[in-house]
Amino acid sequence: MSNNTSAEKVTTEYLCQMKRDGRKIAAITAYDYSTAKLADESSMDIVLVGDSLGPTVLGYPNTIPVTLDQSLHHTAAVVRGVARAMVIGDMPFMTYQTGTEQALKNAARYLQEAGADAVKLEGGESIAPTVQRLVTSGVPVLGHIGILPQSLLTEGRYRVQGRGQEEADQLRRDAKALEEAGAFAVVFEGMPLELSRTITAELSIPTIGIGAGCYCDGQIQVVHDLLGLTEESETPRHAKQYADLAVQTRKAFDKYIDEVKNSRFPDDQHSFK
Ligand code: KIV
Repeated sequence: MSNNTSAEKVTTEYLCQMKRDGRKIAAITAYDYSTAKLADESSMDIVLVGDSLGPTVLGYPNTIPVTLDQSLHHTAAVVRGVARAMVIGDMPFMTYQTGTEQALKNAARYLQEAGADAVKLEGGESIAPTVQRLVTSGVPVLGHIGILPQSLLTEGRYRVQGRGQEEADQLRRDAKALEEAGAFAVVFEGMPLELSRTITAELSIPTIGIGAGCYCDGQIQVVHDLLGLTEESETPRHAKQYADLAVQTRKAFDKYIDEVKNSRFPDDQHSFK
């Protein structure tokens, strides 16, 4: 079943209109051509080439080791699979924190070399001047506040953000600063649902939640979690498995091995005369 209602390319303006209309935004991560193509054919609004590339595809323990070249390589593959969705490249650790001009040069590579429509960077008030520089130079920016996976080594662990008043106030200021800097939308990761409800109502740009409850203007999930490609025990609490591809893949591999070892594959149907 396809959800396709419109072949119109998703733009920043289209997403803001969706918020004004009260239509929810569906977003997913993808890191390769064929997954991105399937997501796009299902009318996903946003495909994010997240730096979750590190743990999901490259086998890193977290997102920190992901490099700009790796991210660009996977972003270009995703772009080749997508016609309608907005494709967003997720700028890796230390590709935008080291100075505004460096951030601009690196962000431009997503648009010029990989063909992405926008970039995402983590952080609120402190990163707002960089966001403003990118946006005024013509680079659409998706913000990201709440849990910031690139701060794992200084934070020590992933922890829901904004439970106390001080943290909640800071997140409200962060979101506002990103809006004022020109971000077209903001990801809320790991935040209490009432806080994300309040901030979503305060912003004119869409909020895209992951572990931030149902009141955001849209939702994003890591594709490996959604498809059940990660072990159930490793799936975060906020993620829902819509398929069990790890189970199905193991079954398929077991059957294939069995048929090869017992000379049942290839049979006549899969051989040339
Ligand atoms: O890297 C990623 O996949 C992300 C999403 C979880 C928002 O940043």
